[in-house]
Amino acid sequence: MYRSHSCGELRSSDINKEVTLAGWVQKSRDKGFMIWVDLRDRYGITQLIFDEERTPAAMMDKAKSLGREFVVQVTGTVIERESKNDKIKTGDIEVLVNKLEILNEAKLPPFTIEDETDGGEDIRMKYRYLDIRRNPVKDSLVFRHKVSMEVRKYLSDKGFIDVETPYLIKSTPEGARDFVVPSRMNAGQFYALPQSPQTFKQLLMVGGMDKYFQIVKCFRDEDLRADRQPEFTQIDCEMAFVEQEDILEVFEGMTRHLLKEINGVDVDKFPRMLFDDAMRLYGNDKPDIRFGMEFGELNEVAQHKEFGVFNNAELVVGIAIPGGNKHTRKEIDKIIDWVRRPQVGALGMVYCRCNDDGTFKSSVDKFYNQGDLAKWAEVTGAKAGDLICVLSGETNKVRAQLSALRMEMAERLGLRNPKEFAPLWVIDFPLLELDEETGHYHAMHHPFTSPKPGQLELLDTDPGAVKANAYDLVLNGNEIGGGSIRIHDKQIQATMLRHLGFSEEEAKAQFGFLMDAFEYGAPPHGGLAFGLDRLVAILGGQETIRDFIAFPKNNSGRDVMIDAPATIDNDQLKELSIQLDMEE
Ligand code: AMO
Repeated sequence: MYRSHSCGELRSSDINKEVTLAGWVQKSRDKGFMIWVDLRDRYGITQLIFDEERTPAAMMDKAKSLGREFVVQVTGTVIERESKNDKIKTGDIEVLVNKLEILNEAKLPPFTIEDETDGGEDIRMKYRYLDIRRNPVKDSLVFRHKVSMEVRKYLSDKGFIDVETPYLIKSTPEGARDFVVPSRMNAGQFYALPQSPQTFKQLLMVGGMDKYFQIVKCFRDEDLRADRQPEFTQIDCEMAFVEQEDILEVFEGMTRHLLKEINGVDVDKFPRMLFDDAMRLYGNDKPDIRFGMEFGELNEVAQHKEFGVFNNAELVVGIAIPGGNKHTRKEIDKIIDWVRRPQVGALGMVYCRCNDDGTFKSSVDKFYNQGDLAKWAEVTGAKAGDLICVLSGETNKVRAQLSALRMEMAERLGLRNPKEFAPLWVIDFPLLELDEETGHYHAMHHPFTSPKPGQLELLDTDPGAVKANAYDLVLNGNEIGGGSIRIHDKQIQATMLRHLGFSEEEAKAQFGFLMDAFEYGAPPHGGLAFGLDRLVAILGGQETIRDFIAFPKNNSGRDVMIDAPATIDNDQLKELSIQLDMEE
């Protein structure tokens, strides 16, 4: 037996017991005649003591040789500590060691294995296995485990069946590029790794599985951000014989269950917001509704004066920053600089101070009188002491810019409390989205999403106006899940693909298998997928998913620990019938 107890387990009630522990040396303090060693494992830290009077000299020497992160096994007696440490659970006791075995030595770690480490991000990624020994990382992984076990339990209890779907498949478009895998046995041909198991879960519905779920890896070759990884995990779900309402109910129930079990938070029925309203009021399809600062559209009250910038804009829109009038001129200039950063992209910002005496002072006083500015305040909901920030320009762009400002100001004002949870369903997404670069429409969710009843005809006349039976679940301003009711009719699927620019041959080549299946009795079905990494991060009070992934990739999509991706040798390339032309 390697150990009788863990390093987080012993209490005063264990005093006088003979115990065996194993773990890593966190640190040791050598006073010459007495040595204390903090022994760490996944469960905690236990102090070991060696002292000249009670410990044989040879063991004293061995104890002196212990370096940080040595792996040791000790046997000893639990004794009461002289100076107690109320910061750790085992702080009342220590173990007087009578047997010490060094199981493995360790090189000095390149950063300190402490909650507050001296290691930067890069070095910690390179030695991720050492980083995982630190409490913050270890706790995040344990937290993730808890969430995913709760999800499995909940869905299984509701009759969902966990079915594994293949990874070596053909492209399932979810809006990103595919990672591809060359096939040795089929020269010149490639598998694509799934961007999601979308088509397979639909085929499972045709197969009569009725309620499916899978906690599954998905692969997307896209630019990385704090909430995106090239391989990430979905809680992927599908149900047959359902309408949108059924799906929202089941997965709202699941989310509420998680908030209760994991965070101890009770949440009422989740509010729902139309996509159009989310864009109008928050400039964003995943609004953080923990705080107000809703947009006020000012076209009516700010245009048709002498101010050309506003007159020429498609949209003039503002928000009231609570208490923002306290900002000095210099500070406001800094906010203006902030919105003009290329990442935000506004050309400028007009502002209006709402003074305590009920008067207004704007940066465009030349064009607007007190009555005009009072209307701005009314529309944006500004109160005395607030600062109204106004942007103008092309609708979609200006909404995105003001949304960025809203989030930034909320962050600065401490309004994004990670302990508060504000879920929101955003529903009635547009079916199609115009790609500004190509001028073509593509599916906003994916090509298998069904238009709202009666809207199919609009596809020919006003494609941008067609709404879908598609929904996202938003938590604290993050999209944690999304799904839709699917098309289950071959003809409609064919029409949809045609509108997305697929020729008949292309549609058949890429999705023929699905459309064929629709001819053999496909039930009405729909579903959704949660981003598990995002869900876990947000429940854990953070927005960076990397911290909740055991072995994440860096921003260039590299695993710096194993140094992947890497070149492969010529023989392997030959076997795969791949010729590299690096000239271009
Ligand atoms: P969607 O593309 O919206 O839907 O993905 C579902 C959820 O997965 C998460 N997500 C990601 N998380 C981390 N890194 C990424 N690169 C990443 N991309 C997406 C998000 C998102 O809400 N097949 C559909 C689901 C369906 O229709 O049932 C799909 O994949 O939290």
